[in-house]
Amino acid sequence: MVLKPEPIYDAYRSIVDGLEEKPKVIYLSPRGNVFNQQKAIELSKEKHLILLCGHYEGVDQRVIDEIVDEEISIGDYVLTGGELPAMVVIDAICRNIEGVLNNESIQDESFNNGLLEYPQYTRPEVFMGRRVPDVLLSGHHANIEKWRREQSEKITRERRPDLIK
Ligand SMILES: C[S@@+](CC[C@H](N)C(=O)[O-])C[C@H]1O[C@@H](n2cnc3c(N)ncnc32)[C@H](O)[C@@H]1O
Repeated sequence: MVLKPEPIYDAYRSIVDGLEEKPKVIYLSPRGNVFNQQKAIELSKEKHLILLCGHYEGVDQRVIDEIVDEEISIGDYVLTGGELPAMVVIDAICRNIEGVLNNESIQDESFNNGLLEYPQYTRPEVFMGRRVPDVLLSGHHANIEKWRREQSEKITRERRPDLIK
């Protein structure tokens, strides 16, 4: 089964008619470019976005050709529908819209600076015999920064060497 073009086109028109600027239309699809942090940041700058979710075999190609600007996949696997991919994309984009989170909480996160994040710790100082690393309790900000950077590089080298240029 394939989703017919007319209802999708009518829904699209009911949104865009009367708008001054045509919103970017994204079709969630396993054939699309694989979504990543860079794309999330890029899309967070758009004023409006329309996300088109397929089902069954997908969407009639003619309406894709008529209204879609870009196809995005959330990974190399097939889901039943585009709704979960749309939620993933919405969440990743919204975190990057100014004012949604405080700037510090997103600056150090994985994929910003092309690295995975360093290990995080909180209280208590000892849990099941495992201690928070001494450097994090030292209060020495430069050493803490250095330790975090080294940990990020080590974890990225081990887990995602493809991210290191
Ligand atoms: C069962 S899938 C269709 C798969 C399609 N026949 C193919 O082989 O590429 C139904 C819908 O789920 C969505 N979908 C499934 N996997 C996806 C993925 N990895 N990324 C984004 N959307 C996906 C798309 O909207 C797709 O139209």
